[in-house]
Amino acid sequence: MSLKPMYKWAGGKAKLVPVLLEQLRRWARRHQGSTNDFGFDYVEPFLGGGAFALSLMTEPEPVVIGTAPGKGRLVALEPRFHLSDVNTDLINVWREFKCNRVALCCALQGWTESYNEAHVVDREKMYYEMRERYNAAIGSSEPDIDQAFRFIFLNKTCFNGLYRVNSKGEFNVPWNKAERISFDLENLLAVGKRLRQNDVEIKCQDWKTAVKLHLSPRQPTFIY
Ligand SMILES: C[S@@+](CC[C@H](N)C(=O)[O-])C[C@H]1O[C@@H](n2cnc3c(N)ncnc32)[C@H](O)[C@@H]1O
Repeated sequence: MSLKPMYKWAGGKAKLVPVLLEQLRRWARRHQGSTNDFGFDYVEPFLGGGAFALSLMTEPEPVVIGTAPGKGRLVALEPRFHLSDVNTDLINVWREFKCNRVALCCALQGWTESYNEAHVVDREKMYYEMRERYNAAIGSSEPDIDQAFRFIFLNKTCFNGLYRVNSKGEFNVPWNKAERISFDLENLLAVGKRLRQNDVEIKCQDWKTAVKLHLSPRQPTFIY
């Protein structure tokens, strides 16, 4: 199953995945040694929705790396993922899906039912109360499953799936007035499960720190 971003994210690169994959293959062609398993560090310091990282995590088959049609070698790309972003609440989502995917999906399922059955006045109330609770906890570096749930729920019910904060650092996007919502729980569960594998590191940090850590690479390093 091909993994997709867990939430909508402005500037997401889902549509660029084929182009990025081609760039990665070209780069791998230059760096790959004589072996057929090409291990490398994949560094994504502006993670956002992580469209490309997730597509690489599900790249199912070895890829042909070659200079001319029919003359390629079959090579398995084997990235170790170093994913980071400066947004603490976004990183909390990735960490919580890694550890608590089933509980999160149950909560999303329950709230989806309540939301879809509610009167418009109650739906609006649900959104703004959730936003208030989200803002009360925003920016904390402590693991918080409830905050991860709120992030995903607000992303689905806010205007255009935008993430915008005001000068006080509060999330201030209005309700999108959706009558019905749904989540791709199968994808969310699959992403959470994949993140548990030990080739994935998730950190909250500035991009400069992320890049600095990989400036003197001991092995080939692809930074996107
Ligand atoms: C356009 S999004 C990245 C899109 C991502 N590649 C995708 O496909 O969804 C930009 C991300 O950079 C993050 N960001 C902004 N300034 C940053 C900084 N100084 N260090 C690390 N991340 C930063 C934002 O939080 C946001 O998630």
